[in-house]
Amino acid sequence: MVVYLVGAGPGDPDLITVKGIKALKKADVVVYDRLANDEILDYTKNAELIYVGKKSGEHYKKQDEINQILVDQAKTHDVVVRLKGGDPFVFGRGGEEMLTLLENGIDVEFIPGVTSAIGVPTSAGLPVTHRGVATSLTVVTGHEDPTKPNKQVKWNFNSDTLVILMGVGLLKKNIKEIMKHKDPKTPVCVIENGTMSDQKIITGTLEDITNNDINTPAIVIVGQVVDVLKESLLKKAEING
Ligand SMILES: C[S@@+](CC[C@H](N)C(=O)[O-])C[C@H]1O[C@@H](n2cnc3c(N)ncnc32)[C@H](O)[C@@H]1O
Repeated sequence: MVVYLVGAGPGDPDLITVKGIKALKKADVVVYDRLANDEILDYTKNAELIYVGKKSGEHYKKQDEINQILVDQAKTHDVVVRLKGGDPFVFGRGGEEMLTLLENGIDVEFIPGVTSAIGVPTSAGLPVTHRGVATSLTVVTGHEDPTKPNKQVKWNFNSDTLVILMGVGLLKKNIKEIMKHKDPKTPVCVIENGTMSDQKIITGTLEDITNNDINTPAIVIVGQVVDVLKESLLKKAEING
């Protein structure tokens, strides 16, 4: 018995790795999330499919229940794939799943995925680092677990680029905090449904970005690299007429 912890990539089904596809092809069971594009499941061959996705705020399955499902499936099947959106270890609780499985004597193999934190901006033509503009990058959650006794996110990051995941619900509140440490005119970009056909790019600054209607899933990028995106969009438009 083995569980492959597989990153499905940020949405576009072509962004899963070849190694991820190979694991899906030999899976007896696939335990998957909402963010993984369903088309990716077509790579399986007669595997049993178990959906354990969660919606923002309302948990379809609690993490403990998911952990138990993984343990139970691993004990009764040769190959289990745990398919997670983006990369399994970037805000995906993949680390907890890995430790639970190992504590239960179950072997785990790790197959990284294209994380939305980098893959979504890259797919849009936004380099998260750029020579002369940004030499450092922070990826942070915009929705730190409210039950945590001591909050770890202080919003006083001094890296050039800030990428916020799960950042829509508390965007106004978090931007207020960021503006205590960064110029309100700092460029901001929001990318909704990144890498998908209905992708939407919204640009602005810290002081005006929340005037827009923003829907999930979305990532928020703060920093001068947003101006590089604007330049790339203009140049692309010139080329493509
Ligand atoms: C629970 S986190 C999981 C992140 C995932 N493990 C990864 O590496 O991309 C979910 C968040 O990822 C971001 N996200 C995932 N897919 C996205 C997409 N296609 N477009 C924009 N943001 C996305 C959103 O911020 C969303 O709230």
